[in-house]
Amino acid sequence: MPAIRANPLPNEWWRGAAIYQVYVRSFADGNGDGVGDLAGVRSRLRHLADLGVDALWFNPWYPSPMADGGYDVTDYRSIDPAFGTLAEAEKLIAEALDLGIRTIIDIVPNHVSDTHRWFRQALAAPPGSPERARFWFRPGRGEHGELPPNDWPSQFGGSAWSRVAEPDGTPGEWYLHRFASQQPDLNWEHPEVRAEHEDVLRFWFDRGAAGVRIDSAAEVVKDPALPDFDPEHDPHPYLDRDELHDIYRSWRRLADSYPQPRALIGEVWLPDPERFARYLRPDELHTAFNFGFLACPWDAERLRESITTTLAVHAPVGAPATWVLANHDITRTVTRYGRADTGFDFATKGHGIPTDLALGTRRARAAALLSLALPGSVYLYQGEELGLPEVEDIPADRIEDPMYHRTGGADPGRDGCRVPLPWSGTVSPYGFSAEPVTGEPWLPQPDGWAGLSVAAQSGAPDSMLTLYRTALRLRRAEPGLGDGPMSWLDAGPRVLAFARGSGADGPGFTCVVNLSGAPVPLPAHTAVLLASGPLDGGALPPDTAVWLRTT
Ligand code: GLC
Repeated sequence: MPAIRANPLPNEWWRGAAIYQVYVRSFADGNGDGVGDLAGVRSRLRHLADLGVDALWFNPWYPSPMADGGYDVTDYRSIDPAFGTLAEAEKLIAEALDLGIRTIIDIVPNHVSDTHRWFRQALAAPPGSPERARFWFRPGRGEHGELPPNDWPSQFGGSAWSRVAEPDGTPGEWYLHRFASQQPDLNWEHPEVRAEHEDVLRFWFDRGAAGVRIDSAAEVVKDPALPDFDPEHDPHPYLDRDELHDIYRSWRRLADSYPQPRALIGEVWLPDPERFARYLRPDELHTAFNFGFLACPWDAERLRESITTTLAVHAPVGAPATWVLANHDITRTVTRYGRADTGFDFATKGHGIPTDLALGTRRARAAALLSLALPGSVYLYQGEELGLPEVEDIPADRIEDPMYHRTGGADPGRDGCRVPLPWSGTVSPYGFSAEPVTGEPWLPQPDGWAGLSVAAQSGAPDSMLTLYRTALRLRRAEPGLGDGPMSWLDAGPRVLAFARGSGADGPGFTCVVNLSGAPVPLPAHTAVLLASGPLDGGALPPDTAVWLRTT
């Protein structure tokens, strides 16, 4: 078992925090127009405090044409009018803090919206101009420049290049966009690009943001030669390039310059855990999302290996692990775990594959207790605490996700996990929109979500919400949980069992998860603290997790 640094300083709250992700558009709608907003979040802060989370991570809330749900940012220093105002955001940050909840905002350094003033200036300026140098503009290949400058694909389908019309109307240069065409990539070789983002960080840190989630953190730097992609060639032309580390070192100095240091949290999707850990060296990011664990199938050996690898790669750099089961890009957990293939593959998403929601929910409950018991911080995506399923039948004309549109519908996109939350009532909008309601929810909510609403689940002993509330309360009170050591226990094949705490002082705590097909006996214990489902006498049924007091 690798040693995990214990006794975090009070400032190092991120080492063991439970962080709740708010997708603002779909959380709560305070003005009744069908789109979630900051007024809605402020009116529901009590719910989040009662849930027992330590911090909120807000998806981008800046002015945006919403070509990619707000990841196409027009102005990083303001709030989208559909969500509210900067003054409201400041109030929200302060009110949350009064309830003991910190705020993490989303920073999008890889690209801006094509409506951002820099990109407008670039379009109005000629090839070779300083305005274009902040982006990746290049002439096309082919006799008339009609072919893209290289073969890089967009992550959302199609080419990563689009051609512009020059100010005189003639077909002109091409610009790079690793995501949608409305999201031109910035050139991080350019000093103004660096300076601008550091200034944006200061802007939000000065307003009380306790940390930032860094979007597409490993994709920001490109090989300036922009070569065709060659799988044999190392380094990769647009992923995980060494130059990135200097950027984050500089951000770390900035974050550390505050009396209460701000946390840097990376969205780092990399298959190689060793390369991933390089972003977490002591002078770089504080933590990064553990996508390996998220994508892992519901299988004891695979999960054990994922957990062991995670801890082993974090230990040498002294960074805490994170545990994530879902976010706004990922198929909802209860749907995923109810399928024959329980892993997550971003390329296919398993859309339309039959699912057994009762089974998926049982496993999601067990997975919740597993991830909340592991060492480090944990992320909870809104609606996970309600056990919401993926909505797989959104009508095509209501889907907004560019992944769906850029692939001609071959990729289902991510809107199925972004449907507005049900708060109360028996029909849509299920209390999502405050009265008077003037618009329907921006994505349609299914019939049959009444039983999943916050009101319906509050106080119901067997509900997902009650499980999360109880587990988060216990997690806060339990000295061995959050950051700190853990040790594996042998509970037989296809069973995960581990103890938390140092074992030297304080009460003993053990988590057991049964991924086998048959009940297994519970290890010796003095009390059952919490179980994800009914116990079978002295046995733990399949797809069930339990927290035990052992001394
Ligand atoms: C990240 C976000 C995703 C967004 C993409 C482009 O992966 O999580 O939602 O579409 O970056 O900004």
